[in-house]
Amino acid sequence: MGKIKFFSGEDIPLEMHKVRIVQKLELAPIEQRVKYMQEAGNNTFLLNNRDVFMDMLTDSGVNAMSDNQLSAMMIADDSYAGSETFTRLEKTLQELFGTKYFLPAHQGRACENIISQVFVKEGSVVPMNYHFTTTKAHIVINGGSIEEIVIDEGIEVTSSHPFKGNMDIDKLKEVIARNGKEKIAYVRMEAGTNLIGGQPFSLENLQDVRKVCDENGLMLVFDASLLSDNLYFMKEREEQCKSMSIEEITKKIMALCDITYFSARKLGFARGGGICTNSKDLYMKMREYITLYEGFLTYGGMSVREMEALRVGLNESMDEHIINQGPLFIEYMVNELDKKGIPVITPAGGLGCHLDAMRFVDHIPQAEYPAGALASALYIVSGVRGMERGTMSEQREDDGTEVFSNMELLRLAMPRRVFTLSQVKYAIDRIEWLYKNRKLIGGLKFVEEPKTLRFFFGRLDPTSNWQDELVKAFRKDFPDSL
Ligand code: F0G
Repeated sequence: MGKIKFFSGEDIPLEMHKVRIVQKLELAPIEQRVKYMQEAGNNTFLLNNRDVFMDMLTDSGVNAMSDNQLSAMMIADDSYAGSETFTRLEKTLQELFGTKYFLPAHQGRACENIISQVFVKEGSVVPMNYHFTTTKAHIVINGGSIEEIVIDEGIEVTSSHPFKGNMDIDKLKEVIARNGKEKIAYVRMEAGTNLIGGQPFSLENLQDVRKVCDENGLMLVFDASLLSDNLYFMKEREEQCKSMSIEEITKKIMALCDITYFSARKLGFARGGGICTNSKDLYMKMREYITLYEGFLTYGGMSVREMEALRVGLNESMDEHIINQGPLFIEYMVNELDKKGIPVITPAGGLGCHLDAMRFVDHIPQAEYPAGALASALYIVSGVRGMERGTMSEQREDDGTEVFSNMELLRLAMPRRVFTLSQVKYAIDRIEWLYKNRKLIGGLKFVEEPKTLRFFFGRLDPTSNWQDELVKAFRKDFPDSL
């Protein structure tokens, strides 16, 4: 069914919910915003949320809950062991995913910790469509390495390929042949491939990956954190899925995978995470790690209230008119920016709108973090907080050499059911202004640089006084606007 059409022909997304609780936002004047950005070391992770107008850093743990989720939280059964809430959540997962066993964990990376500790050994290789930051860090810390084998179109910024998150099957066969199958810990597929712009894979591709795994006796691990968007795109874009319900597609996906894990901060409009499998053997191998790192088996570090919210949220994720809200708002933003000639990742994916900093600020070398500089500049001119997804999010080699990212992106995530269309229009307007004034944006350099996941805490300085020039130009065009 997809999008609701307007008689006027206007192509805009329509919210299929009404707002019943609101949170007041503040928009500080630009002179203050530039100070906040400097105090935060030009790292959007270090801004205080009260100083942010539109928080588009992430869709993790910040999606709006429904009335049904909030009311379910009131019936949570608070007990250390044997909680009724756990039983209800486990049953929902059995019904929706068709998987028998469920191990709760406090968030997605906690699942990655457990899966990597159990299955990754010194010298192991994990082929995957594309890495996620925490996924790679957990595999590497356990002595393994990753091989990214997304199709070539996946890392082309502008493309019309409907499934840019697909794994290249020939490359998968080559990785297995080159390393030997005994070295492959497992093959990993990520739904809504995060770091290349929330791009989906097709059901057909997953079926092909499964075939190769079967031929080589390999395990297939599925990161379902961004499953909702991927499901929507499969239903919209893939012939074999058009006649299936979202629930049917979900079951088909799960039946192809040995282990499915997810961040419930993304999937199910809640917070938490979990690992699902149909194999008792795999379940037993992972089980003791839950009690060691997360909590007892029936809560795994999650609050029971969140578990109830997740149960209801997972059911809501099977409703096409609920899961289409993210992709439709993102599509609107991407298409509007694209029409204005502003470089964005196309086609629109899930998760958020991704500005292509490599072209937006093509005068900034990768060694001066173009996507990080763009994130800083956008906050200064708009109060919109995005997230750098480029070289800053990579890690240096042991000898200090920079690893330049394939893409330099500024991700503007679209938390689900949170923003209205006029707020999205405001973001588009300020991005357009910034694009017209892009030559004023300069680079950044680290002044404090942690070795691991440096993008979280690293602090940077501008390479010149470009931020003052940006403020002056803004004030010329907007003498009395916030
Ligand atoms: N896998 C994917 C695909 C993710 O997008 C994330 C988190 C994780 C695993 C880890 O889950 O945060 O619950 O520990 N992505 C967030 C983001 C952080 O902002 O994109 P987590």
